[in-house]
Amino acid sequence: MTNTINISPSSAKKFGAQVVEWYHKQGRKHLPWQQNKTPYRVWISEVMLQQTQVATVIPYYHRFMESFPTITHLANADEDKVLHHWTGLGYYARARNLHKAAKIMAEQYQGEFPETIEEVIALPGIGRSTAGAILSLALNKHHPILDGNVKRVLARCYTVEGHNGQAKYEKALWPIAEALTPKKSVAQFNQAMMDLGSLICTRSKPKCNECPLQSGCLAYSLNEQANYPQKKPKKVTPEKSTIMVIPRVNNKVLMEKRPPTGIWGGLWCFVEVEALENITPLLSKLNLQATNQQTLPEFRHTFSHFHLDITAVIVDCERINAITDYEINEIDQQQWYDLTKQSSVGLAASTKKLITQLTLESY
Ligand code: ADE
Ligand code: SF4
Repeated sequence: MTNTINISPSSAKKFGAQVVEWYHKQGRKHLPWQQNKTPYRVWISEVMLQQTQVATVIPYYHRFMESFPTITHLANADEDKVLHHWTGLGYYARARNLHKAAKIMAEQYQGEFPETIEEVIALPGIGRSTAGAILSLALNKHHPILDGNVKRVLARCYTVEGHNGQAKYEKALWPIAEALTPKKSVAQFNQAMMDLGSLICTRSKPKCNECPLQSGCLAYSLNEQANYPQKKPKKVTPEKSTIMVIPRVNNKVLMEKRPPTGIWGGLWCFVEVEALENITPLLSKLNLQATNQQTLPEFRHTFSHFHLDITAVIVDCERINAITDYEINEIDQQQWYDLTKQSSVGLAASTKKLITQLTLESY
């Protein structure tokens, strides 16, 4: 509708009161990160929740906190171990940034979480909304938040044009969030806004009849809920394909660690080749002689920005030359992964899937 939306102090006050009242009745209060709230505990949960559903996050959160109970534990951990805790959650840059930020806090803040919004935003992987969530939820500091769920609630209440990823959309929403965030009960207000977005004001079929904001909601009064936020124009997701080679000697398979950036950065994957003809030269470079080769059915792994069709080829091998023993001569970026043992390294989701297949097959 309009570009700038004026919210009077009295309507902001009413909005805040309705949200906080709803929080006391219906808001989530028993999530693991809502117990013993500290900025560290809230930070880890917020980062896990950035692209992942609450139900999926919970077991990961418990395991993470058990292994890394404090910033110092996280800062001192091996990156491999941190990434291992992320196996299956996706968006691994989140885990690498957590680790980096913990190191910064260990070095610059004596292992304490900083408490000003500027310092928190300056940490890797923490944007304005996540910083606001950490400081408000853990310390009740007065900062607005604007995650995907909150954006949807506000966009509907005030019929804000645009969609996620559009600069004008965010630019219109932040002043609204600022104007509405109450001075008191910030933690409850922010938690309730996220809960309203994920439980009531859902992407499709919002439960307007259970919503405390119904009386003031513009989209509801116009019956235009479905038009806010606006649909993103469809873009075609590119399709790529790759061949993964899985050299296997007895119960061990050869893996390599990916470079730190790009997809699966820092994670353990199988060696990729562009064409099937490249397998034989690869094996001879590794001093391996194929005894049997088996191609698994193609499967698709979808990233945020492309589909990857993966053909995996298991090659049973013998070592040609006993002198080249990769178990002894293990270099940092390559390892013979023992299928009979539990891993303690970060595996890409596709690697994990293939390992599961290999493990099942070997029984
Ligand atoms: N999504 C992001 N942060 C959340 C929180 N604190 N509670 C529930 N869902 C969330
Ligand atoms: Fe969302 Fe409906 Fe509530 Fe409006 S009334 S905020 S559209 S759930």
